[in-house]
Amino acid sequence: MATKNIAVLAGDGIGPEVVAQGIKVLDAVAEVFGHTFNYTEALVGAVAIDATGNPLPEETLEVCKASDAVFFGAIGHPKYDNDPNAKVRPEQGLLALRKSLGLFANIRPVTTFEALIHKSPLKEEKVRGADLVVYRELTGGIYFGEKGRNEKGDEAYDNCAYSTGEIERIAKLAFEAAQNRRKKLTLVDKANVLETSRLWREVVRGMASSYPDVEVDYMFVDNAAMQLIQWPSQFDVILTENMFGDIISDEASVLTGSMGLLPSASIGAKVGMYEPIHGSYPQAAGQDIANPMATVLSAAMLLDGIGMYTEGNAVRTAVDKAISENYVTEDLDKEAAKKCSEVGDYLAELVKANVQESI
Ligand code: IPM
Ligand code: MN
Repeated sequence: MATKNIAVLAGDGIGPEVVAQGIKVLDAVAEVFGHTFNYTEALVGAVAIDATGNPLPEETLEVCKASDAVFFGAIGHPKYDNDPNAKVRPEQGLLALRKSLGLFANIRPVTTFEALIHKSPLKEEKVRGADLVVYRELTGGIYFGEKGRNEKGDEAYDNCAYSTGEIERIAKLAFEAAQNRRKKLTLVDKANVLETSRLWREVVRGMASSYPDVEVDYMFVDNAAMQLIQWPSQFDVILTENMFGDIISDEASVLTGSMGLLPSASIGAKVGMYEPIHGSYPQAAGQDIANPMATVLSAAMLLDGIGMYTEGNAVRTAVDKAISENYVTEDLDKEAAKKCSEVGDYLAELVKANVQESI
């Protein structure tokens, strides 16, 4: 029995709807395992800009820092996407949050669900068995390097820099993950062109001898983009820098045909942040049709992150069961077409029923 404080940053678009389902499931976990979860809601993204002018208000950051974990929905609004000159953007809130909380590792597991394999854009035999996880560096590289324009404004630059320490700390997590999985690590880089990539290789090569049970592969990012489509099951743990990780993880996320099912964790310092990998899907906002499963699976990663592994597994078991029973939203089956809130209720029920059964 434990008491945990969870910051809830639902954000924009479908964020609040899917996060509400995640909370139903967390409440079910709290009930059957005898825990207490205290939730504190805070603003981030476009809703925060609308209310305060700032995509990451100071108060939100304080709430996050004072919590055991951050449960995040989605951010983004079309009114900003279409305005490249907007002075403040919802995305700045997310980047600032990552930096301020020291979330240097973004972990995105990509798994296949047998019942949904026909939804993959790839041939079934190619995608069957694909089970990989991307470890993306999240607080360095080109995202956070110096950027600017020349005086005339007709030249722009974004600097990409990495230090040995920044590489080592995420590589360590990726090596450890590989040890607990199929023991293969692929470093994705562009070492034939970029000096930062050469440093990544040097550091990872130096660390490899400390993990003799892990086979290390080095792959250029352009080739990796191709290999992910041609032969996804060859990958186990992919380790890469911020920008390549952004691109590769989106590519990886659609392989299995279940993007609405993929969770993520961003960790580093004390407090981890857990969010679905899909965006704010503004067209669906308020309609109760969004798939809450990625958010619910993010809640499972959150539980792992606060040391509640049995609880995390109970949530994953519930999601597997609902999928196998075809209790899913319209993105997965137009005929079944359960509502977002119905799926949330059902998953909460399943968590309670399964746990009570196993006691
Ligand atoms: C992601 C997103 C963000 C990123 C955006 C919203 C800033 O695409 O989490 O992958 O590029 O990191
Ligand atoms: Mn992205």
